[in-house]
Amino acid sequence: MSNTPNSDSSQPTKLWGGRFRSGPSPEMAALSLSVHFDWRLAQYDLRQSQAHARVLHAAGLLTDDELSRMLQGLQQLSADVATGSFVPSEDDEDVHTALERGLVERLGAELGGKLRAGRSRNDQVSTDFRLYLRDQSVAIEAELVRLALAFVEQAEKHVDCPAPGFTHLQHAQPVSFGHELAKHSHALARDISRLQDWRARHNYSPMGAGALAGSSLPLDPQGVARELGFTDALANSIDAVSARDFVAEFLFVCAQIGVNLSRIGEEVILMASREFAWAKLDDAYSTGSSIMPQKKNPDIAELSRGKAGRLIGDLAGFMATAKSLPFGYNRDLQEDKEPVFDAVETLLLLLPAVTGMIATLQFDTAKMADSAPTGFALATDIAEWLVRNRVPFRVAHEVAGHCVAVAEEKGCELWDLTDADFAAISPDLTPEVRSVLTTEGSLNSRAAFGGTAPIRVREQLVALRRSLQG
Ligand code: ARG
Repeated sequence: MSNTPNSDSSQPTKLWGGRFRSGPSPEMAALSLSVHFDWRLAQYDLRQSQAHARVLHAAGLLTDDELSRMLQGLQQLSADVATGSFVPSEDDEDVHTALERGLVERLGAELGGKLRAGRSRNDQVSTDFRLYLRDQSVAIEAELVRLALAFVEQAEKHVDCPAPGFTHLQHAQPVSFGHELAKHSHALARDISRLQDWRARHNYSPMGAGALAGSSLPLDPQGVARELGFTDALANSIDAVSARDFVAEFLFVCAQIGVNLSRIGEEVILMASREFAWAKLDDAYSTGSSIMPQKKNPDIAELSRGKAGRLIGDLAGFMATAKSLPFGYNRDLQEDKEPVFDAVETLLLLLPAVTGMIATLQFDTAKMADSAPTGFALATDIAEWLVRNRVPFRVAHEVAGHCVAVAEEKGCELWDLTDADFAAISPDLTPEVRSVLTTEGSLNSRAAFGGTAPIRVREQLVALRRSLQG
């Protein structure tokens, strides 16, 4: 292979080579290759190149005519990338190499070779990646909004449906099922705000940093930053090419979304089980078994649970790569892309399926309502009724616990105890205690802000809907 600079456009394009006597060995070239995954950045690289061409023109390094031909060439290349008529070749090391070849093929080596002045793949790749992630964060956010609204819609239909609420997966206290469903929208709303925070914190441009020290050419990093929609340019060129906390933080948000989806999945799996039988999955959002004809399986919910592991792995793997890296560009940094592509593509595949599953779930409200007060779930209501009658909580707790023990012994629920049973347990337990031994009474009594009383849940849902649609 020739080691002369690429003046001849029939030669494979290389962005380096002048100081080498031989080309890379096949093993070296194979290891180095990233174009099979970083091609996803092609349109961002081209957008960046247009901004860079304008900067070179403003600096007097491209004539008016050269600029207009350069912009035309870049536009043509962008169209050819979009239609698939320009694709990377086997010899293209990465997306930047492939696109320079494309430009040289369209404009000739003389003009095509001018664009690289004043920039390095080090500032280029970080800029491309930030532009890509900015778009993906918006796409993921839109999917999260859809899912959060699907929960709000289901919650609105079930505000007045009582259901058992759990701690330790044991009946704890009755809750409004709408309250139960709405909790997921709140978690998802925080994921949405994490993505928004991420965009605000990392919307800064590395362009102009060059390899690491900035450029001796009269470039305008802040102008380029503005043109690409960044808030500003990064203020330290070494930081600009070295920083990857924008990657780590993005992967954390993806992993956190995965964890939330896994908990949603786990809940759906339980609710759709024959033992719970609270929820029925829609046929379009469940699968069958190849051997057991009766089966209807919650595969979307299981894949939500499973893919959370993968998203956590993407974060953990990247953090291990970034740890202890010296500042300035190191080739290790090429390993930042695949975990991010995987996380983004996993979420964009998973979220619409989860939204469809949630939106189409059918709930057996009678079954939930029947079981809401069982398992002595109203014991706290007895204790709090006593407290309202001036009994110290320490005593009230004991007395209510005693009621549970007697009911358990008799094999009945708390409201089946007789007046005599209550009186024998404590003289404070007058027959009026029955006023709190209903599910409705229990729910309505939890009416402070954030509580499960239907009146509060309705307010909560109005606010949620407003903030999600705002
Ligand atoms: N493919 C490289 C990456 O993804 C581009 C930057 C290469 N820079 C270099 N100095 N070799 O990080």
